[in-house]
Amino acid sequence: MDRLERVVIVANRTPAVKSAGGLASGLLDALKKERSLWFGWSGELREDPSNTLQQFSQGKLTVAAIPLSPEAHNRYYNGFANGVLWPAFHHRLDLMCFTEDDYTGYLEVNQHMAEQLRPLLNDNDIIWVHDYHLLPFAAMCRGLGIQQRLGFFLHIPFPVPSVAQAIPRIDELLDAMCSYDLLGFQTEDDRQAFVALCRERRPEIPIPQTGVYPIGVDPHALRREAEAKPVVELWPDAGKIQGIISVDRLDYTKGLPERFKAYGLLLEEHPELHGNVQLVQIAPPSRTDVPAYAELRHDLTALAGEILGKHGDLEWQPLVYVERQHDRAVLMPLYRQARVGLVTPLKDGMNLVAKEFVAAQDPDDPGVLVLSRFAGAACQLDGALLVNPHDPGEVADAMRYALTMSLEERRARHRRMWAVLCASDIDGWRRRFLVDLKAVRTQKVKTGEPLSA
Ligand code: G6P
Repeated sequence: MDRLERVVIVANRTPAVKSAGGLASGLLDALKKERSLWFGWSGELREDPSNTLQQFSQGKLTVAAIPLSPEAHNRYYNGFANGVLWPAFHHRLDLMCFTEDDYTGYLEVNQHMAEQLRPLLNDNDIIWVHDYHLLPFAAMCRGLGIQQRLGFFLHIPFPVPSVAQAIPRIDELLDAMCSYDLLGFQTEDDRQAFVALCRERRPEIPIPQTGVYPIGVDPHALRREAEAKPVVELWPDAGKIQGIISVDRLDYTKGLPERFKAYGLLLEEHPELHGNVQLVQIAPPSRTDVPAYAELRHDLTALAGEILGKHGDLEWQPLVYVERQHDRAVLMPLYRQARVGLVTPLKDGMNLVAKEFVAAQDPDDPGVLVLSRFAGAACQLDGALLVNPHDPGEVADAMRYALTMSLEERRARHRRMWAVLCASDIDGWRRRFLVDLKAVRTQKVKTGEPLSA
């Protein structure tokens, strides 16, 4: 990369604000190393958000963040991004709630962000835009005369065409997405779903280059964090209680009620486990202004109470359910203490918790990952026990198998997954995307041919 070149990240979240999700934390580590600008929403809601760009630096990274008005944020973030795109892209059309007004608000915020970014840009910048909040951002930039290279990475799944066709305004969104120079996806299935949809719905629009870039972690740094003295000792009576750990945003895509039902079944079918096993579920609430999230919380606390009431006694709690958010420095040593990592989303772009759990393990005595086959991570982590999260019996059997797995098998499975984490880490992810974005042919191809195999 030449000296004047700068990477400009555009994302809804910026490191200016802490969120329970993975995007900002994963990207931040990868970006502090080179001259870059990160532009997005500051996390603030203000009635009059004009002229309030905040800027600060973290190493070589400059963060530039803007507030939004409560009304604009509600239509863009709660309304269209999280009320339509999030459920539909995760195949939950039943939860999709479209209004024309929210869609207009989504377009307006994309336009506003493009206008606010324009004066901050240098000629040699390359712009890397992230996630479903910003599908039409490139089209807005091009409309404003911004000519710099524009790449996009989708952190969540892309829906299969039969589902995607039900999204109102999908054709307009596809056209706008095709204004990017490079579109990156987590898995080959996601990439193919996008290309198939474009060919079907918009055969006359040239498809930009596409590629598959499964997001990774920094396994060595995570292992070091996991080896640190634990802030909390969850199962100090080593050997007596085997820990199962799950950490998710409180989101209906994460399969939390299904997981609790599977755990309830495990306890029912295996009374010999009573007193010897404990599931710790950490689930910080998110997007609490979107109605589907409030309902989920209600259902989940009822299920938690049922498990505790039915199976627990004065000396043993089968379940610990915590909504408070915890830092990675607390979580990593917890992952290492657990015998099982239970990661069972109904659908997930990648799922970095699965990778963090593997990175945290002691290679000499590793825990076992039970992983949904519908998480993007399942395409890579072949040492996990892959399960269908909709089948409580299958998940319960996998938990039981994981709890009794021989040391030899645990080590072999962990070795395979550790190798994958190292071969496809977060730094490689960033480099591969940027190399491809820099090399992209500006003349778009009709075929949507993948850039990388
Ligand atoms: C997912 C999305 C991210 C988002 C994160 C947290 O991982 O792909 O774009 O930042 O969830 O969600 P929130 O709505 O709090 O930003």
